[in-house]
Amino acid sequence: MGFPEGYCVAVTGAASGIGRATALLLAGQGVRVACLDHADASETAASAGGGAATHPLDIADAAACRAILGHVIADFGRLDGLVNCAGVVGPTNIRSEELNPADFEAVCRVNLFGALHVSQAVLPHMRGRGFGRILHVASIAGKEGNAGMAAYSASKAGLIGLVKSMGKEYAETGVTVNALAPAVIRTPMVAAMPEAQVTYMTDRIPMKRCGELDEAARMIAWIVGPDCSFTTGFTFDLSGGRAVY
Ligand SMILES: NC(=O)c1ccc[n+]([C@@H]2O[C@H](COP(=O)([O-])OP(=O)(O)OC[C@H]3O[C@@H](n4cnc5c(N)ncnc54)[C@H](O)[C@@H]3O)[C@@H](O)[C@H]2O)c1
Repeated sequence: MGFPEGYCVAVTGAASGIGRATALLLAGQGVRVACLDHADASETAASAGGGAATHPLDIADAAACRAILGHVIADFGRLDGLVNCAGVVGPTNIRSEELNPADFEAVCRVNLFGALHVSQAVLPHMRGRGFGRILHVASIAGKEGNAGMAAYSASKAGLIGLVKSMGKEYAETGVTVNALAPAVIRTPMVAAMPEAQVTYMTDRIPMKRCGELDEAARMIAWIVGPDCSFTTGFTFDLSGGRAVY
């Protein structure tokens, strides 16, 4: 168990919530971490300590993903893992007939296209080295669909499909591509949602509680470590019993 010397992981969405918690946990285990976010992630990098780097990145921008992740790979000399936590919720508590297609597109640009962009930016390097771990944070909404959150649910369902395809494509290369489907974890993203929407989601969790940041970070750290070696294209569950498939 654990990470070999010199292990390097890039984390998107590292300024806040699950991404921040994952970056700190990985750094605490001796991993060199690149903290990427379109918001300022320097506090995360500073808390992570010596080996951590930080770069501004909008994952909806394909060229920026190639440039910044290329820079991270050159700087570290290698990249073993990518944790993609960057994401947006978009409209909530709204019927699909009222959903503005522009809002739908904006959510997909980050949650779905962004996942493609960051994957494409690291896959050639990982395939070339014969080793890599990619983990995209999807959502229980992508498995089950949350009423009132059609844009978000569709973007995360698309992401789960993307991961299934990529996992199979790279299965013989030493690179694994997986997703994580959390139910509700109390983060700034959830705090910004209407209470009715949060209650709707939490009521459906058999454990009748939210997940903790550390529970998400520990699972992610294992998935992007060398020990998680015979699973790819899979969506790991983190839902307190809500999804049993
Ligand atoms: N918190 C939950 O209950 C929950 C449940 C299921 C899935 N998720 C997913 O987990 C991931 C992390 O969410 P969180 O709860 O930690 O939210 P959060 O809002 O605390 O963190 C999300 C981070 O992503 C960054 N970000 C947003 N758009 C970006 C972009 N275009 N480029 C780069 N960075 C961008 C934000 O600046 C922020 O730092 C998201 O993908 C979210 O959809 C969260």
